[in-house]
Amino acid sequence: MIDLPQSGRGLEGYSLLAAQVEALLADERDLIANAAQFAAFLFYELDGLSWAGFYFNRDEQLLLGPFQGRVACVRIPFGRGVCGTAAATRQTQRVEDVHAFAGHIACDSASNSELVVPLEKHGRLLGVLDLDSPRHARFSLEDQQGIEALVAIFLRLTDC
Ligand code: SME
Repeated sequence: MIDLPQSGRGLEGYSLLAAQVEALLADERDLIANAAQFAAFLFYELDGLSWAGFYFNRDEQLLLGPFQGRVACVRIPFGRGVCGTAAATRQTQRVEDVHAFAGHIACDSASNSELVVPLEKHGRLLGVLDLDSPRHARFSLEDQQGIEALVAIFLRLTDC
């Protein structure tokens, strides 16, 4: 059996996605509008996702923001689960098997892998972007780098 890559996107794919995000967010700088657009864009353009969305930093807690997918946890303390760890450490969390991640918060039992990118602007933590997948190890290092580049475009084109 041929072992196909799970994401199906190379760096070339992320260059195209980057150009699309630039165009999508070019005419608006509002945080809520751009976060909603960006979450919808990722959810429909990346394959194999069950959830894509934002949590915003509200006094050292993460508060649910615009997203696509099933209903989710509303508040997550810094340090808890994958999202809270990304917020507390300000490091991207790429988790191949969420069930093996200590403290993982199972909002959706169908989720098996997760990528959480912290959102930092001018040294401030705005929140995190959370992507969930029912596939094991859905996110490669290449996906991480591509999605971090998309997040950088989102932050540059958004007032926050
Ligand atoms: N599983 C996440 C919680 C957020 S939801 O999956 C949308 C976590 O452990 O941080």
